[in-house]
Amino acid sequence: MTILTNEAEILKIRESGKIIKDIFLRLQEIAKAGVSTAALDREVEKIICENGAEPAFKGYKGYPASICASVNEVVVHGIPSEDIILGDGDIVGIDVGVKKNEYYTDAARTFAIGTIDDEAKHLIEVTRQCLVKGTEQAVADNRVSDISNVIQTLAEGAGFKEVRAFVGHGTGRHLHEAPEVPNWGEKGKGPVLKEGLVLAIEPMINSGRREINVLDDGWTAVTSDGRLSAHFEDTIIVGNKKAEIIT
Ligand code: MF3
Ligand code: CO
Repeated sequence: MTILTNEAEILKIRESGKIIKDIFLRLQEIAKAGVSTAALDREVEKIICENGAEPAFKGYKGYPASICASVNEVVVHGIPSEDIILGDGDIVGIDVGVKKNEYYTDAARTFAIGTIDDEAKHLIEVTRQCLVKGTEQAVADNRVSDISNVIQTLAEGAGFKEVRAFVGHGTGRHLHEAPEVPNWGEKGKGPVLKEGLVLAIEPMINSGRREINVLDDGWTAVTSDGRLSAHFEDTIIVGNKKAEIIT
Protein backbone atom coordinates (compact mmCIF):
# COMPACT_ATOMS: atom_id res chain seq x y z
CA MET A 1 0.00 0.00 0.00
CA THR A 2 1.42 3.41 -0.89
CA ILE A 3 0.17 6.27 1.29
CA LEU A 4 1.78 9.58 0.36
CA THR A 5 2.26 11.83 3.34
CA ASN A 6 4.23 14.80 2.08
CA GLU A 7 4.29 17.24 -0.80
CA ALA A 8 7.70 16.07 -2.10
CA GLU A 9 6.33 12.55 -2.73
CA ILE A 10 3.22 13.95 -4.37
CA LEU A 11 5.32 16.12 -6.69
CA LYS A 12 7.29 13.02 -7.73
CA ILE A 13 4.28 10.87 -8.53
CA ARG A 14 2.66 13.79 -10.39
CA GLU A 15 5.66 13.81 -12.73
CA SER A 16 5.11 10.13 -13.43
CA GLY A 17 1.42 10.71 -14.13
CA LYS A 18 2.13 13.72 -16.36
CA ILE A 19 4.04 11.47 -18.76
CA ILE A 20 0.95 9.28 -19.19
CA LYS A 21 -1.26 12.37 -19.72
CA ASP A 22 1.08 13.50 -22.51
CA ILE A 23 1.05 9.99 -24.01
CA PHE A 24 -2.74 10.00 -24.27
CA LEU A 25 -2.69 13.39 -26.03
CA ARG A 26 -0.23 11.96 -28.55
CA LEU A 27 -2.24 8.74 -28.97
CA GLN A 28 -5.36 10.78 -29.68
CA GLU A 29 -3.48 12.21 -32.70
CA ILE A 30 -1.88 9.03 -34.03
CA ALA A 31 -4.37 6.24 -33.28
CA LYS A 32 -5.98 6.27 -36.74
CA ALA A 33 -7.15 3.70 -39.29
CA GLY A 34 -4.20 2.01 -40.98
CA VAL A 35 -1.86 2.23 -37.97
CA SER A 36 -0.64 -0.99 -36.30
CA THR A 37 -0.78 -1.44 -32.55
CA ALA A 38 2.98 -2.16 -32.68
CA ALA A 39 3.53 1.36 -34.07
CA LEU A 40 1.57 2.81 -31.14
CA ASP A 41 3.69 0.77 -28.74
CA ARG A 42 6.93 2.10 -30.28
CA GLU A 43 5.76 5.70 -30.05
CA VAL A 44 4.69 5.32 -26.42
CA GLU A 45 7.96 3.64 -25.43
CA LYS A 46 9.85 6.48 -27.08
CA ILE A 47 7.93 9.12 -25.11
CA ILE A 48 8.47 7.24 -21.85
CA CYS A 49 12.23 6.98 -22.43
CA GLU A 50 12.58 10.60 -23.59
CA ASN A 51 11.10 11.59 -20.24
CA GLY A 52 13.71 9.70 -18.25
CA ALA A 53 11.16 7.11 -17.21
CA GLU A 54 10.72 3.35 -17.69
CA PRO A 55 7.83 1.40 -19.22
CA ALA A 56 6.29 -0.36 -16.23
CA PHE A 57 4.66 -3.19 -18.17
CA LYS A 58 7.65 -4.33 -20.25
CA GLY A 59 9.08 -7.44 -18.61
CA TYR A 60 6.38 -7.48 -15.94
CA LYS A 61 5.66 -11.22 -15.50
CA GLY A 62 7.20 -11.60 -18.96
CA TYR A 63 4.86 -9.11 -20.71
CA PRO A 64 6.61 -8.16 -23.99
CA ALA A 65 5.58 -4.53 -24.62
CA SER A 66 5.17 -1.04 -23.14
CA ILE A 67 1.41 -0.78 -23.76
CA CYS A 68 -1.56 -3.09 -23.88
CA ALA A 69 -3.66 -2.42 -27.00
CA SER A 70 -7.05 -4.09 -26.78
CA VAL A 71 -9.16 -3.88 -29.96
CA ASN A 72 -12.98 -4.40 -29.98
CA GLU A 73 -13.73 -7.75 -28.24
CA VAL A 74 -10.35 -7.67 -26.48
CA VAL A 75 -11.06 -6.67 -22.87
CA VAL A 76 -7.50 -5.99 -21.66
CA HIS A 77 -3.87 -7.12 -22.11
CA GLY A 78 -3.87 -7.15 -25.92
CA ILE A 79 -0.25 -7.53 -27.05
CA PRO A 80 0.80 -4.95 -29.69
CA SER A 81 1.48 -6.47 -33.10
CA GLU A 82 2.52 -5.39 -36.62
CA ASP A 83 -0.37 -7.58 -37.81
CA ILE A 84 -3.07 -5.79 -35.84
CA ILE A 85 -4.01 -2.77 -37.96
CA LEU A 86 -6.63 -0.38 -36.65
CA GLY A 87 -9.62 0.02 -38.95
CA ASP A 88 -12.47 2.51 -39.26
CA GLY A 89 -15.16 1.67 -36.69
CA ASP A 90 -12.82 -0.09 -34.24
CA ILE A 91 -12.46 0.82 -30.60
CA VAL A 92 -9.08 0.33 -28.93
CA GLY A 93 -8.24 0.39 -25.24
CA ILE A 94 -4.68 1.56 -24.64
CA ASP A 95 -3.22 0.84 -21.22
CA VAL A 96 0.10 2.44 -20.19
CA GLY A 97 2.28 2.04 -17.10
CA VAL A 98 5.17 4.37 -16.24
CA LYS A 99 7.86 4.28 -13.57
CA LYS A 100 9.49 7.65 -12.84
CA ASN A 101 11.20 8.91 -9.68
CA GLU A 102 10.55 5.48 -8.10
CA TYR A 103 6.80 5.96 -8.58
CA TYR A 104 4.50 3.90 -10.76
CA THR A 105 1.41 5.25 -12.45
CA ASP A 106 -1.02 3.19 -14.54
CA ALA A 107 -3.83 4.41 -16.79
CA ALA A 108 -5.97 3.49 -19.81
CA ARG A 109 -8.29 5.13 -22.32
CA THR A 110 -10.53 3.63 -25.00
CA PHE A 111 -10.20 5.46 -28.32
CA ALA A 112 -12.64 5.45 -31.25
CA ILE A 113 -11.09 4.89 -34.68
CA GLY A 114 -12.94 6.87 -37.34
CA THR A 115 -16.72 6.50 -37.16
CA ILE A 116 -17.99 4.02 -34.58
CA ASP A 117 -21.55 2.75 -34.16
CA ASP A 118 -23.96 3.88 -31.44
CA GLU A 119 -23.47 0.82 -29.25
CA ALA A 120 -19.70 1.37 -29.20
CA LYS A 121 -20.19 5.08 -28.42
CA HIS A 122 -22.57 4.30 -25.57
CA LEU A 123 -20.22 1.64 -24.15
CA ILE A 124 -17.26 4.04 -24.18
CA GLU A 125 -19.31 6.84 -22.60
CA VAL A 126 -20.67 4.61 -19.82
CA THR A 127 -17.23 3.15 -19.07
CA ARG A 128 -15.73 6.65 -18.87
CA GLN A 129 -18.54 7.66 -16.49
CA CYS A 130 -17.84 4.57 -14.36
CA LEU A 131 -14.29 5.85 -13.88
CA VAL A 132 -15.47 9.42 -13.14
CA LYS A 133 -18.11 8.32 -10.61
CA GLY A 134 -15.84 5.69 -9.07
CA THR A 135 -13.14 8.32 -8.58
CA GLU A 136 -15.64 10.61 -6.84
CA GLN A 137 -15.97 7.92 -4.16
CA ALA A 138 -12.20 7.82 -3.54
CA VAL A 139 -12.30 10.05 -0.46
CA ALA A 140 -11.06 9.49 3.07
CA ASP A 141 -13.35 7.44 5.34
CA ASN A 142 -15.22 5.84 2.44
CA ARG A 143 -14.53 2.15 1.89
CA VAL A 144 -13.10 0.47 -1.20
CA SER A 145 -16.44 -1.03 -2.18
CA ASP A 146 -18.07 2.41 -2.32
CA ILE A 147 -16.00 2.81 -5.49
CA SER A 148 -16.95 -0.69 -6.66
CA ASN A 149 -20.65 -0.19 -6.08
CA VAL A 150 -21.07 2.97 -8.15
CA ILE A 151 -19.22 1.33 -11.06
CA GLN A 152 -21.44 -1.76 -10.99
CA THR A 153 -24.60 0.30 -10.61
CA LEU A 154 -23.79 2.54 -13.56
CA ALA A 155 -22.69 -0.31 -15.85
CA GLU A 156 -25.68 -2.51 -15.12
CA GLY A 157 -28.07 0.44 -15.22
CA ALA A 158 -26.95 1.01 -18.82
CA GLY A 159 -27.54 -2.65 -19.71
CA PHE A 160 -23.84 -3.55 -19.75
CA LYS A 161 -21.80 -5.95 -17.61
CA GLU A 162 -18.75 -5.12 -15.49
CA VAL A 163 -15.90 -7.63 -15.91
CA ARG A 164 -15.08 -9.49 -12.70
CA ALA A 165 -12.02 -11.45 -13.82
CA PHE A 166 -9.74 -8.42 -13.28
CA VAL A 167 -9.76 -5.66 -10.68
CA GLY A 168 -8.29 -2.23 -9.98
CA HIS A 169 -5.51 -2.04 -7.41
CA GLY A 170 -3.24 0.02 -5.25
CA THR A 171 -0.17 1.39 -7.05
CA GLY A 172 2.66 3.83 -6.27
CA ARG A 173 5.85 2.13 -5.12
CA HIS A 174 4.99 -1.05 -7.06
CA LEU A 175 2.81 -1.46 -10.16
CA HIS A 176 0.32 -3.63 -8.29
CA GLU A 177 -0.25 -3.22 -4.57
CA ALA A 178 -3.02 -3.79 -2.06
CA PRO A 179 -5.89 -3.08 -1.89
CA GLU A 180 -7.79 -4.74 -4.73
CA VAL A 181 -10.45 -2.43 -6.17
CA PRO A 182 -13.19 -4.60 -7.72
CA ASN A 183 -15.68 -3.12 -10.17
CA TRP A 184 -18.63 -4.65 -8.34
CA GLY A 185 -19.91 -5.08 -4.79
CA GLU A 186 -22.13 -3.81 -2.02
CA LYS A 187 -21.36 -0.40 -0.51
CA GLY A 188 -19.55 -0.08 2.80
CA LYS A 189 -17.25 -3.13 2.56
CA GLY A 190 -13.50 -3.59 2.40
CA PRO A 191 -10.68 -1.39 3.68
CA VAL A 192 -11.35 2.19 4.79
CA LEU A 193 -9.71 4.73 2.44
CA LYS A 194 -7.07 7.07 3.87
CA GLU A 195 -5.90 10.42 2.56
CA GLY A 196 -2.77 9.91 0.42
CA LEU A 197 -3.55 6.32 -0.64
CA VAL A 198 -2.64 5.74 -4.31
CA LEU A 199 -5.14 3.69 -6.32
CA ALA A 200 -5.54 2.60 -9.94
CA ILE A 201 -9.29 2.50 -10.58
CA GLU A 202 -10.05 0.61 -13.78
CA PRO A 203 -13.57 -0.27 -14.94
CA MET A 204 -13.65 -2.87 -17.72
CA ILE A 205 -17.18 -3.04 -19.14
CA ASN A 206 -18.63 -5.49 -21.67
CA SER A 207 -21.56 -4.80 -23.97
CA GLY A 208 -22.72 -8.45 -23.74
CA ARG A 209 -21.84 -11.16 -21.22
CA ARG A 210 -19.30 -10.44 -18.49
CA GLU A 211 -17.29 -13.67 -18.98
CA ILE A 212 -13.87 -13.57 -20.60
CA ASN A 213 -11.39 -16.04 -22.07
CA VAL A 214 -7.61 -15.69 -22.18
CA LEU A 215 -6.04 -16.60 -25.52
CA ASP A 216 -3.15 -19.04 -25.98
CA ASP A 217 -0.61 -16.18 -25.80
CA GLY A 218 -1.35 -16.20 -22.07
CA TRP A 219 -2.33 -12.51 -22.01
CA THR A 220 -5.04 -11.40 -24.45
CA ALA A 221 -8.39 -11.40 -22.62
CA VAL A 222 -11.42 -11.48 -24.94
CA THR A 223 -15.16 -11.39 -24.29
CA SER A 224 -16.56 -14.93 -24.35
CA ASP A 225 -19.38 -13.83 -26.69
CA GLY A 226 -17.20 -11.76 -29.06
CA ARG A 227 -19.03 -8.51 -28.25
CA LEU A 228 -17.30 -5.20 -27.48
CA SER A 229 -15.45 -4.24 -24.31
CA ALA A 230 -14.14 -0.87 -23.08
CA HIS A 231 -11.57 0.06 -20.42
CA PHE A 232 -10.70 3.33 -18.67
CA GLU A 233 -8.19 3.66 -15.85
CA ASP A 234 -6.64 6.44 -13.80
CA THR A 235 -4.11 6.54 -11.00
CA ILE A 236 -5.54 8.74 -8.27
CA ILE A 237 -4.59 9.90 -4.78
CA VAL A 238 -7.35 9.60 -2.19
CA GLY A 239 -8.18 13.06 -0.78
CA ASN A 240 -10.07 14.34 2.22
CA LYS A 241 -12.79 15.94 0.14
CA LYS A 242 -11.82 14.96 -3.41
CA ALA A 243 -9.40 12.57 -5.09
CA GLU A 244 -6.53 13.98 -7.13
CA ILE A 245 -6.35 12.40 -10.60
CA ILE A 246 -2.69 12.20 -11.54
CA THR A 247 -2.91 10.58 -14.97
N1 MF3 B 1 -3.42 -1.82 -16.09
C1 MF3 B 1 -3.17 -3.23 -16.19
C2 MF3 B 1 -3.16 -3.87 -14.83
O1 MF3 B 1 -3.18 -3.18 -13.87
C3 MF3 B 1 -1.98 -3.49 -16.99
C4 MF3 B 1 -1.06 -4.57 -16.62
S1 MF3 B 1 -0.32 -5.16 -18.03
C5 MF3 B 1 1.04 -5.97 -17.56
O2 MF3 B 1 -3.19 -5.07 -14.71
F1 MF3 B 1 1.61 -6.36 -18.56
F2 MF3 B 1 1.81 -5.20 -16.88
F3 MF3 B 1 0.66 -7.00 -16.76
CO1 CO C 1 -3.97 -1.30 -13.63
